Amino acid sequence: MESIIVAGSANPSLAEGVAERLATRVSRVILDRFPDSELHAELGESVRGCDVYLIQPTGPPVDSHLMELIFLADACRRAGAERLTAVVPYYGYARQDRRAKGREAVGGRLTADMLSLAGFERIVAIDLHTVALEGFFSIPLEHLSAVSVLANAAEELVTANSVIVAPDLGAVKLAERYSELLHRPIAIVHKARLSGAEVEVRGIVGNVAGCAPIIVDDMISTGGTIKAAAEALIGAGCLPEITVVASHALLVGSAITSLSALPLKRIVVSDSLPPPKRNRLPVQVVSLAPMLADTIARLHVGESITAFVSHR
Ligand code: R5P
Repeated sequence: MESIIVAGSANPSLAEGVAERLATRVSRVILDRFPDSELHAELGESVRGCDVYLIQPTGPPVDSHLMELIFLADACRRAGAERLTAVVPYYGYARQDRRAKGREAVGGRLTADMLSLAGFERIVAIDLHTVALEGFFSIPLEHLSAVSVLANAAEELVTANSVIVAPDLGAVKLAERYSELLHRPIAIVHKARLSGAEVEVRGIVGNVAGCAPIIVDDMISTGGTIKAAAEALIGAGCLPEITVVASHALLVGSAITSLSALPLKRIVVSDSLPPPKRNRLPVQVVSLAPMLADTIARLHVGESITAFVSHR
């Protein structure tokens, strides 16, 4: 059975990088809108009898990219694809994993159902906001991690006074993984979220005075979490030499402005989402294409992918 790479419009350069490493190309698709804005998705080539890997992170604009993903899945299914895998390097709606206030939708669960209904038999995702999301899927979820790839890139920035910082309690497990890989101790920031873009720091656990912080998180969205953590760390006596390492760079709203005001040495992120547009931030983008290409090659022939799997 031939393997085929299909991609929506969310991150064409990552899909091309993956295809290149697999010595193939991204299959042609037609994505357009009717005058009333309805999406129309069509495959430009045959996928009949093929093992199809559909690469599409569901980053901003989240709903459009999600619709492209499920429409292309439906097109593949109806066009006779033999096996269909969604490769979703960044999974939008993962933060909606429960009802925090009541009378709310649980977006993470609903989107998981949508992917199964669209015809996917397996999902590949990277550093989901919460590992519990696996339980939302009735189809297999291969949860990979970008942590080793990012830690590798951040290694040259580690000094004898570096401390790995979890900017909130949810990032503690992630910080433990970086701490193991980079051999530095951990500190934890106690954050409270006031709204989608506002956060407040209530305290810091661990020794940070005189240290150079390496703040690690699964994603940078508005940058509010990083900004609040960085300001609290500086207030607690940290050196103004901050490194940020995050799997997913959404960088929405006032992220660029907020982060530009901080004494940042480097921001190391993956290309799960398209690289940020030109700005003056010291961003280093590390590609996930090699890991994804290797994963697809192994899945295609039924080989183990344990080396890339998240164990959070
Ligand atoms: C929250 O728990 C996440 O791990 C991130 O810290 C958060 O989503 C980042 O969002 P923002 O950059 O808007 O603070």
